[in-house]
Amino acid sequence: MDPDLPGVPLIERWDRLLDGKVAVVTGGGAGIGGGIARLFAEHGALVEVAEIVPERAAGVRAEIEHAGGVCRTHVVDVRRADHVDRLRDAVLEAHQTVDVLVNNVGDHRPLVRFRDSSPESWRQMYDINLGHVLLVTRAFLGPMIDGGGGSIVNVHSVEGMRGYPGEPVYAAMKAAVAHFTTSLAVGEGRHGVRVNGIGTDLTQTPQVDYRTGYEDAEHLWESWAPVGRLGWPEDQARVALFLASDLSAFVTGHNIPVDGGSRAGGGWFYSPSARRFVNRPKTL
Ligand SMILES: NC(=O)c1ccc[n+]([C@@H]2O[C@H](COP(=O)([O-])OP(=O)(O)OC[C@H]3O[C@@H](n4cnc5c(N)ncnc54)[C@H](O)[C@@H]3O)[C@@H](O)[C@H]2O)c1
Repeated sequence: MDPDLPGVPLIERWDRLLDGKVAVVTGGGAGIGGGIARLFAEHGALVEVAEIVPERAAGVRAEIEHAGGVCRTHVVDVRRADHVDRLRDAVLEAHQTVDVLVNNVGDHRPLVRFRDSSPESWRQMYDINLGHVLLVTRAFLGPMIDGGGGSIVNVHSVEGMRGYPGEPVYAAMKAAVAHFTTSLAVGEGRHGVRVNGIGTDLTQTPQVDYRTGYEDAEHLWESWAPVGRLGWPEDQARVALFLASDLSAFVTGHNIPVDGGSRAGGGWFYSPSARRFVNRPKTL
């Protein structure tokens, strides 16, 4: 603690914001989770990657170790309760505690139009976007409290924070993660656990490829995102680092859109030809 500021954690190394912290990252083998695992390791975290694809798990571990970081991997399907129990047991056996949990797994596929959807397709959307967040959080919350507290970061989507006509069931699951985040935070703050979310958009990953097929449209990014460019897993990872570390010690219950401004822009698009923002473009 900072001796001059009661309750404020002292930050000794600004380049090692998670020094010695045990950090579990689901879906940490690729995409946004991979970026988070690498940046957390760079900041001294003991990273525990939970990943369904063995090659991805091995790949991120090799990258982290090559850079001098510490990483262990668990090949698990976080949708399965028995796998999550196995993950929790392995992490606690090695470290006896957990300081940071990033629930990052999620998928908009298979994309089924609502009129064609079914209880089975709704169940799939639940399992891959919401159910595992509950399973993994429940598994680690008790140990986190027993260990003196920590930070939970839920990666959901900007589509859970605005209307998403393409797949309302996916949007509803992401919105549920955002509200679970807010509600859990209120109850657990007094136990030393902070809970925050990231509403992702426009980020280049294996799942969401914004480049292939759009090679001729790079100049349109100034219309698609207020910041005028595509996002990268590192953009997400930097915000996750802020939320996971003591930098955000007084922040809990919030969902931050990390979207290049797409949510803030709403239905407005920058038109290079009109040289102004338009909300009913005939052409850009
Ligand atoms: N990329 C974007 O622009 C974008 C936009 C909106 C929301 N998101 C959300 O961000 C999160 C990360 O997305 P991404 O684009 O990096 O996805 P991705 O598919 O590229 O990466 C996800 C990682 O999780 C792993 N994984 C998938 N299912 C798993 C399971 N059941 N158990 C364990 N590991 C599993 C995958 O193998 C992969 O390594 C997701 O929740 C996604 O819905 C991303």
